[in-house]
Amino acid sequence: MMRTRECGTLRAADAGAQVTLAGWVHHRRDHGKVIFLDLRDASGTVQVVVHPDESAEAYEAALEVQREFCVQISGEVAARRPGTENERLETGDVEVRARALTVLSPSATPPFVIEDGVEVDEGTRLKYRYLDLRRPEMQGAIRLRHALTRGIRTFLDGRGFIDIETPTLTRSTPEGARDFLVPSRLQPGTFYALPQSPQLFKQLLMVSGLERYYQIARCWRDEDLRADRQPEFTQLDLEMSFVEESDIQVLMEELMVSLWRDVLGVEVSAPFPRMTYDECMRRYGSDKPDVRFAMELADVGAVFEGTGLGIFRKVLEDPQGSMLAIGVPGGASMHHNELRRLEQLARERGAKGLAWFRLTENGLDSPLAKHVDDALIARLVQALGLTTGDLALVCADKTDVARAVLGALRVVVAQDRGLIPEGRWEFLWMTDPPLFEWDPDDERWVSVHHPFTSPQGPVEQMVQDPGNTKARAYDLVLNGVELGGGSIRIHRRDVQVRVLEALKRDPAEFDFLLEAFGYGAPPHGGIAMGIDRMAMLMSGRESIRDVIAFPKTQSGGDPMTGAPTGVEARQLKDLGLKQQPS
Ligand code: AMO
Repeated sequence: MMRTRECGTLRAADAGAQVTLAGWVHHRRDHGKVIFLDLRDASGTVQVVVHPDESAEAYEAALEVQREFCVQISGEVAARRPGTENERLETGDVEVRARALTVLSPSATPPFVIEDGVEVDEGTRLKYRYLDLRRPEMQGAIRLRHALTRGIRTFLDGRGFIDIETPTLTRSTPEGARDFLVPSRLQPGTFYALPQSPQLFKQLLMVSGLERYYQIARCWRDEDLRADRQPEFTQLDLEMSFVEESDIQVLMEELMVSLWRDVLGVEVSAPFPRMTYDECMRRYGSDKPDVRFAMELADVGAVFEGTGLGIFRKVLEDPQGSMLAIGVPGGASMHHNELRRLEQLARERGAKGLAWFRLTENGLDSPLAKHVDDALIARLVQALGLTTGDLALVCADKTDVARAVLGALRVVVAQDRGLIPEGRWEFLWMTDPPLFEWDPDDERWVSVHHPFTSPQGPVEQMVQDPGNTKARAYDLVLNGVELGGGSIRIHRRDVQVRVLEALKRDPAEFDFLLEAFGYGAPPHGGIAMGIDRMAMLMSGRESIRDVIAFPKTQSGGDPMTGAPTGVEARQLKDLGLKQQPS
């Protein structure tokens, strides 16, 4: 037998047992007459003592081994001498006295120490991802992800859902990002698109009468990458027939409660609060508000009424403009260079500027101090509920710009200043978003969710006033992260055609769907949850890259395999493709 026990399972009760272990040398300490090895396998770590008196051969072999050698060790489990126990190890009450040590596979010196919390640049971690994944915290994250998908499958199976695979070589599904294209060899000049989501297939499965579908589906989107975005990612994709918004929402609430209980041992309470898109934007300047902390946006137009400042006056006179503010508790201690950074962030988000007012012990400090009187400051203090030591950030701009700017600064400032309480799980449903938004570059309406989302109200109203039509859509938000989004779909051919026309898209592109809707399509709706984002939040990570075994870098590459790579001229020829000289 290669091994009789796993390292992390040995306890005081095993003292006296003869064991054979296999694993990696985590640490090696040579104390002259005796060598200590920490032996690690997937279950944990145990201390091994190699003493020449126990076995001269094992001692000779131990002199040669280095960190990350893969070894097999046989010996006796012994209780550690009182006072030498290691409380940080679950196996800390025992050690294994080696009688034999076999090197199964030597290791070169690893490019970084295989340990939690080591500071290594991500490029190196990803180049040697197989070593990075040896680190216990990474193994923990990958195991948590497994527990998450297992929990999802068990829960949905119990609710009568069936797991159905859908194609990955397909035609474009419009989810708003660029497609990854795959050229067809058999039909030169044509391309498959990798699905941005299984959206249309799951709707067609409802037309098929399967009623309850789910899939843990890989999706591909060629978009700018961020901490919570990868070019390929995984969704829990789900669709049901004969449902309304609340059916999907309640089901997801029950799923979240069950996952948080089973995976994390945490009780979260449902129902989750519902907040309309309009309210989210007005109060938090974001469609995915982090409601773990307050700092809500306040309209301070009335505070600045009659101001002599030209820039503020212009905004106050503009029906599409607003003067909005947030109060930062304790923010008066911010240095001028920190405030300049916030101003810079505001400009990057399209603001013309950012005004700030520090309420210090010695009175008001602000670049605008000369232009404001005591009465105005008193009104500002009142409007934002400030006290001495606080800071007010004020943005005067088009309402949507001012909201976006303060919505983003609210989160940055709260993170920087440690104002976000730890250990809280604040779920929220964002409801009733707009159906369309105006794309000024293309000069046309585009879907906020996707073109298959049902409008609220009669379709005639949508045609007449697309900008004010709401969607039967909802997002599940957790701690300021959009975990998932879904909608009640259009199931009527005539309505779908009108929506596609409003989007200036050719209905012929979706002939197959429109035709299917002509055969008794049931009312249906669904949702997709980002599995990577769920695993990221559940494991307390800041990036989804930390919960994906082999993720891509910020520029979409894989430093380990070198993908993407060029291909041979012959391969291009087979596909009928020619490379443009770059
Ligand atoms: P949506 O586009 O909102 O909806 O996507 C659903 C969820 O998928 C996750 N997600 C991503 N995760 C990582 N990297 C990405 N690039 C990425 N893009 C999206 C997010 C998001 O909330 N077909 C619809 C769902 C439906 O209507 O049922 C859809 O895909 O967590």
